[in-house]
Amino acid sequence: MTAGDGAPARRPRVFVTRRLPGDALDRLAREAEVDLWPGDVPPPYDALVEHAARADALICLLTDRIDAALIDAAPALRVISTVAVGYDNIDVAAATRRGIPVGNTPGVLTETTADLAFALILATARRIVDADRFVRDGLWRTWDPNLLLGYDVYGATLGIIGFGKIGRAVARRAHGFGMRVLCTTRTQIDGPAAPAQSVALDDLLRASDFVSLHVPLTPDTTRMIGERELRLMKPTAILINTARGGVIDQPALVRALSEGWIAGAGLDVAAVEPVPPGDALLRAPNTVLLPHIGSASHATRERMAAMAVDNTLAALRNEPLPNRVGSG
Ligand code: DGY
Repeated sequence: MTAGDGAPARRPRVFVTRRLPGDALDRLAREAEVDLWPGDVPPPYDALVEHAARADALICLLTDRIDAALIDAAPALRVISTVAVGYDNIDVAAATRRGIPVGNTPGVLTETTADLAFALILATARRIVDADRFVRDGLWRTWDPNLLLGYDVYGATLGIIGFGKIGRAVARRAHGFGMRVLCTTRTQIDGPAAPAQSVALDDLLRASDFVSLHVPLTPDTTRMIGERELRLMKPTAILINTARGGVIDQPALVRALSEGWIAGAGLDVAAVEPVPPGDALLRAPNTVLLPHIGSASHATRERMAAMAVDNTLAALRNEPLPNRVGSG
């Protein structure tokens, strides 16, 4: 590559906030100077700003706060590419004001995340984690008709809040389990979606045995499941969250679980991640807690990394991003 005057062009500098699975970063390194944050934990905010300030492109994760101050401090920045479908950690409006496109990784993690939502439904309903611990703790003395009783998934009613790609993928799985599926959606249900009955949120909460959350975190959805909503649910119902922790009022959920307003919860996400030691959520009964692994299969995480690099390279070549946030 040469600059217009025949001098070799400066290779663009890309700050990548974590090592990514697969070979996507090798591909990136063929066209750019890769400034890779070492180690397995996110850069502290100050370091994030300092590295972004010297970068032409930023490949970030959902753990990185990409706010207006960071964007202002990065004069050469031409693209922000997140290795996630959700982008609530990024001030997209501030980026847009600067003409910086934001890329994400939609579609590729749909089925993997739906698998995990279903794993949480089964694990919570059938007390899989409790049962595993019971065996390991040497407590298994005999077959017992009263031992570790849970709830049937087959034939139950599943309420899906947010009927986008992942919500629909969960619905398809639910039909294999003979479940009745209710959903809330702002859009027409069409395409390959499994049949689901669109109902008002309160009706869904009242009627469902399992409620699964699949909305993005926005000002409208922040703490949309609070005390009022939890009290509408059946005392035998189970709440599943593979979306974002901020969608639930977590202290209210802890009370709902402790006081028996609902029967259990399966959570892949939390209000604060990682859940701080000593947090009341860690002591909530009948709750399965996972460390935000919805998309964590080898194949999917490699595809996400590849998509984030594709978005970055496109911007550096002055081409449209294959997956740009807000482009429909
Ligand atoms: C996302 O992509 O937003 C998930 O939360 C992590 O895969």
